[in-house]
Amino acid sequence: MTKKLRIGVIFGGRSSEHEVSLTSAACVLEAIDKTKYEVVPIGITKAGQWLTGKNVLKLLSQQTDEPDKIGATAGALISLLPEPKEGDLVRVDTREGLTENLGGGAGLDIVFPVLHGTYGEDGAMQGLLELADVPYVGAGITGSAVAMDKAMAKAVFQAEGLPQLPYAVVLRSEWERDPVSVEQTVAELGYPCFVKPASLGSSVGISKVKKLDDLHKALQEAARYDRKFVLEKDAGNAREVECSVLGNDEPTASTVGEVVPSREFYDYMAKYHDQSSELIIPARISSKTMSKIQDLAIRAFKALDMAGMGRVDFFVDKETEEIYINEINSIPGFTPISMYPKLWEASGLSYPELIDRLIQLALARHEDKGRNLTSFVPQEHK
Ligand SMILES: Nc1ncnc2c1ncn2[C@@H]1O[C@H](COP(=O)(O)OP(=O)(O)O)[C@@H](O)[C@H]1O
Ligand SMILES: [Mg+2]
Repeated sequence: MTKKLRIGVIFGGRSSEHEVSLTSAACVLEAIDKTKYEVVPIGITKAGQWLTGKNVLKLLSQQTDEPDKIGATAGALISLLPEPKEGDLVRVDTREGLTENLGGGAGLDIVFPVLHGTYGEDGAMQGLLELADVPYVGAGITGSAVAMDKAMAKAVFQAEGLPQLPYAVVLRSEWERDPVSVEQTVAELGYPCFVKPASLGSSVGISKVKKLDDLHKALQEAARYDRKFVLEKDAGNAREVECSVLGNDEPTASTVGEVVPSREFYDYMAKYHDQSSELIIPARISSKTMSKIQDLAIRAFKALDMAGMGRVDFFVDKETEEIYINEINSIPGFTPISMYPKLWEASGLSYPELIDRLIQLALARHEDKGRNLTSFVPQEHK
């Protein structure tokens, strides 16, 4: 019998989307084919400590208010060293200055970062995994970092000629120094407009602003989370639709689904706490618009140098079916009721098959990268 691949599933983390990650991870852990893979759950506390053990997910779910205490009580503090050592995890006990290899050199063959937001989805974790030379699911450093930063992603969308709503990028320091010029920028975009922290997800820190009086409150809220904001014109009478992309250099697009938020827009409460937001698959759009969106989704995925997976979100005008790209998520939600796996299910790929496919794509990408030399070797000329 061939050896099972050891897959580290990493969740939690120092992110405002910590809780969302725990929900996604519970489903991924459940669905991974245990006859093919040996699963190593790795939880990162809100304080940034890495823990492993059977009960890590439960521990993190119960005690998220006391991040430091979790590490102290859980015992199994671990680290992944930033050197290519076959994904070895080491047990680190800083009190005793002890570093011990965990599991007799049985390192991780692959990692599935089920992390959302900062330090997980933004290239930071991907950087560590690159240094450790461990294959991992999803986009690499560049794709992750650009997808996470709405301002950078928009610049790339623009360069690729993808249609998007008028927007502006403002730094927190610029707003603090010269609030009037930000007011002018928003006046040019027109009200209502959306104020977003550039590098967050799950709608954290986002406001819809209907009039000048409300603008500074919205900017204050965004300023709690980020040093850079994206201001964007309201899509108006539009549907929110999403398309899942899967693959590496030759990605494919799923059918398109529609989100009908239970609140004025798809804010944090509508996403995770309000049961009445609706997902409609397929979206209520013409087949012509659907194939346009699939094409745009693949173009966006390639333009951002994504890999493995990506969910690309759009607005579609209800009257004209004009399409605007909104954003791309490199680690989309992964609960069975999340749009990313649901769209694949509707396109004929079950949740466990999808996980398996993502693992295979990660291995293929790592192998492809392994072809690159890391030192200069002159070509021999015949
Ligand atoms: N320009 C816009 N017009 C209309 N609704 C918007 C606009 N931008 C954002 N929204 C609403 O806010 C939600 C969150 O914004 P989004 O840019 O997707 O950020 P996040 O990365 O947090 O999901 C969207 O799902 C949508 O409901
Ligand atoms: Mg979104």
